[in-house]
Parts: sequence; C-alpha cells; structure tokens
Amino acid sequence: MRRLVLGLLAFFLGVSLVAADIDMEVKIVEKLQHFSEYRFPGNNHEDNWVEARNYIEKEFGYYGLRVQKQTFNSTVWTLEGDQTVEGVNIIGVASATSNKPGAVVVVGANYDTNTRESPGPLFNNGAGIAALLETARLFMHNVKWSGSFRQNFTTIFVAFDLNTKEHDNGPGKSGGWYFVNEWLWDYLNKSDTNFGGAFVVDSIMNVNQEPNSQDTSENFRRMFPDTFNSMAKDSNKGNFIGVVTQPDEKSEKLRDQFVGNYRKDRKKRPFRLEDMTLPTVLQQNHILSELTTQESVEFWSFQVNGTATPLPAILISDTEKLRTMPESPCGSRVCPPKAWLTEEREEFMEATVKGLTSTLLRRQATHLPDSPGNSSEATSLPSLFTTVVFLLIGRFYH
Ligand SMILES: *[C@@H]1O[C@H](CO)[C@@H](O)[C@H](O)[C@H]1NC(C)=O
Ligand SMILES: *[C@@H]1O[C@H](CO)[C@@H](O)[C@H](O)[C@H]1NC(C)=O
Ligand SMILES: *[C@@H]1O[C@H](CO)[C@@H](O)[C@H](O)[C@H]1NC(C)=O
Ligand SMILES: *[C@@H]1O[C@H](CO)[C@@H](O)[C@H](O)[C@H]1NC(C)=O
Ligand SMILES: *[C@@H]1O[C@H](CO)[C@@H](O)[C@H](O)[C@H]1NC(C)=O
Repeated sequence: MRRLVLGLLAFFLGVSLVAADIDMEVKIVEKLQHFSEYRFPGNNHEDNWVEARNYIEKEFGYYGLRVQKQTFNSTVWTLEGDQTVEGVNIIGVASATSNKPGAVVVVGANYDTNTRESPGPLFNNGAGIAALLETARLFMHNVKWSGSFRQNFTTIFVAFDLNTKEHDNGPGKSGGWYFVNEWLWDYLNKSDTNFGGAFVVDSIMNVNQEPNSQDTSENFRRMFPDTFNSMAKDSNKGNFIGVVTQPDEKSEKLRDQFVGNYRKDRKKRPFRLEDMTLPTVLQQNHILSELTTQESVEFWSFQVNGTATPLPAILISDTEKLRTMPESPCGSRVCPPKAWLTEEREEFMEATVKGLTSTLLRRQATHLPDSPGNSSEATSLPSLFTTVVFLLIGRFYH
C-alpha cells in the first residue's frame, strides 16, 4: 500500500510539473562551444572575434528578438601598437507595447576577450555570454513561442564588444560605455524614469572549493563584511556567486528579485549566492578595483552633462580576480575547453541562467492561465489528485 501511494504521488507530481509548461531546460554547453577561443582584434584572434559576433547576431534573431548593431570606434593596444578598431555591440530587443516607471530591464555580457592566458576565453567571458544567450533563448521561448507567458515590459539583451578596461593599456572607451551613453540613454528618452536596471553577467564559471581560494584582504572585509564573515565560516573557499549591487532603491529591488529566484528551488548545492551590496557611504572611487573592470561600472558612473546620474545595475560574478583560478586539469599542456567543463561548473552556470530567466519571466511577463476547454483539465486534474494523495498519506502516517 505504501509503495502504491508513493508511486502514485511521484507519478502525479511528475504530471503536474510537466503541465506547468515553463521551459527551463538550460543547454549552456552547446553555447559555450562557440566561445572557447580568444576573440580579439589583431594578434591572429580576429577571425574568432568576428565569428562570435556573427553567431550572437544569428542566435538573437533566431530567438525572435529585434536585432540592432551599434558600431563604434575605439582604441585597443595590440602587438603592433595602438590601433583604432570598429567594435560592434549586438543588441536584441524584446519590446513591449507600453512601459511604466521602472519597467525596462537590460541583461548584458561581454563577448570579446583580452589576450591573457589566465583566466582565458572560456572563463572570461565565454561563460557570461553563453549565459546571456541561454537566458535570452529561454525568455523568448516562454513569452513568444510556447504561449504560456505574455510579455508586459521591454527587455533588452546586449552583447558588449571591446571591454577595453580589461585590455592591456587600453586607452579607448569600452562597448559598455558606448551602449549606455550612445544607445540606452536615447532609447530611454533621456530619462531614467522607465529604467528598472541592468544585470551584467561577467565571469560566472569559476567555482573553487579549495580553502583560501577567495581574497580576504582588509579592503574586502571593510566593503563586504557579511560576505567576509560567511566566507570565514567556510575556510574562505571561492564557492559562491557574487551579486554586487549599489544601494539605491531600484537596484535593491532588482537584487531581491534575482536572489529570491536564484534560491527558489531550494536545491542542495555545493555553492551559494552572496549578496554583496555596497555600503551606502562608499564613494564611487573606493570600490575595489577588481570590481570596476566589468561593464556594470559604466552604468554606475554614468553622467549627464558632467553631473553624476548613476543608473541601477547589478554585477553577477564569481568575483574574477578576487578568486584563485582552478589548477589546470592538463598540467602544463594546453587544455581543451571540454577538460575545464566539470559537472560542478556546469551546474554553477546553470543556476545563474535559471535565476535570471525566472526573474525576467516573473518581472517582465505574466503567466497566462491555460484557456478553459482545452488544456485546463490536463493541468488541474493532476494537482487535484496530488492533493488527494497528500491527504491520504496524512491519514496513513499520522
Ligand atoms: C570608424 O572609423 C572608420 C575609419 O576612419 C570609419 O570609416 C567608420 O565610419 C568609423 N565608424 C564609426 C562607427 O564611427
Ligand atoms: C501584463 O499583461 C497581461 C496580459 O496582457 C495583463 O493581463 C496584465 O494586467 C499585465 N500586467 C501588468 C502589471 O501590466
Ligand atoms: C520614449 O518615448 C516614446 C514616444 O513618446 C515612447 O513610445 C516610448 O515608449 C518611450 N520609451 C521608453 C523607454 O519609455
Ligand atoms: C545637456 O546638454 C544639452 C546640450 O548642451 C542640453 O540640450 C540638455 O538639455 C542638457 N541636459 C541636462 C539634463 O541638463
Ligand atoms: C484552446 O482552444 C481554442 C479554440 O479551439 C484556441 O483558440 C486556443 O488557442 C486554445 N488554447 C490553447 C492554449 O491551446
């Protein structure tokens, strides 16, 4: 009897989950394959750089986003010296018919790389751009193709080019700067009223279970005392994803939504999320320099006619240089990308994609009730059965 009841329970729970019809099957490995090589203008890496760009453009279009290319000229330092190159931000817009204050949300990641050996093109920022693509795909699938959600508010996906802040001697402005200053601000009709904030996904693959793999400097302690304490309780392992937020109202709202959705499934995982909200009294120029090379800083330091007008933005990151890179699984030989891709790292990235996708679906869209007559019975019946089975179990084992 007990077996039967448990069997029935499992069966009907399964049916109810399927019937919920939210596609959350993350296929990040497929995307990562396209970002395992250096992507940089010059030094023999130019073809990969252009290929990555074309791939992103094609994917965005394929998901059903309206694709725009923002071109800009910037200066990068190559072996031949300073060079002016044309960068291209790929912007995919899912526009809504109307917006309201705080409605528009941006998700962005860099697709170019520098030419340094460590952390290399997969970690920085192949993982972030793959997560951006998967989030865009799952969001669009649910709001546009599956019919289970209706989109309410404009959601923008952007793949930034040329993060000169992470280049050697890079004097030019970055793709993030051009996006915020020469695209987004105009798009927002030169007002931050309708802007809800941005998620910047940069370096999200390095989960490190080695004790003392996380930076424990005095500066870090002063800036993130809570994170510092919880790290200390866990041998200062770099086993968390950091959510770095400026303490303004819109950013905090966006942060709470992401944190809630990231932790929603309550799965037991070998890593966690750390809320790294910056202290209120902190001056812009006192932020740990390791957290100012990502494109989030272009939102935080935005100015209108010389007046600071910080825009809400959240950096989702494994904290990059504040965490030791894992040892190469191939010793001193060059490692194929597959060797880096452990199950744990894959799960670490997937958790970020799921957290982002459910945040966007809940915040930017509405789950539609199944229309009566066709699919409604299919969904309500199993949950009814589940309830009955729960009641039965309660009787038997009380
Ligand atoms: C970048 O510079 C090139 C060469 O000077 C020029 O042809 C091109 O139009 C410029 N692009 C932009 C976006 O300004
Ligand atoms: C979102 O769209 C749905 C369906 O069109 C509508 O019923 C709902 O009121 C909208 N929600 C908001 C907050 O505008
Ligand atoms: C900017 O203004 C236009 C025209 O009034 C409006 O249609 C559009 O929704 C506004 N954009 C945003 C992001 O509010
Ligand atoms: C900024 O300067 C431009 C041109 O000088 C002007 O049109 C605009 O109104 C100014 N904006 C603000 C917010 O002062
Ligand atoms: C339900 O059936 C109606 C009429 O046949 C159809 O218009 C509607 O699209 C169906 N809805 C779903 C969710 O299948």
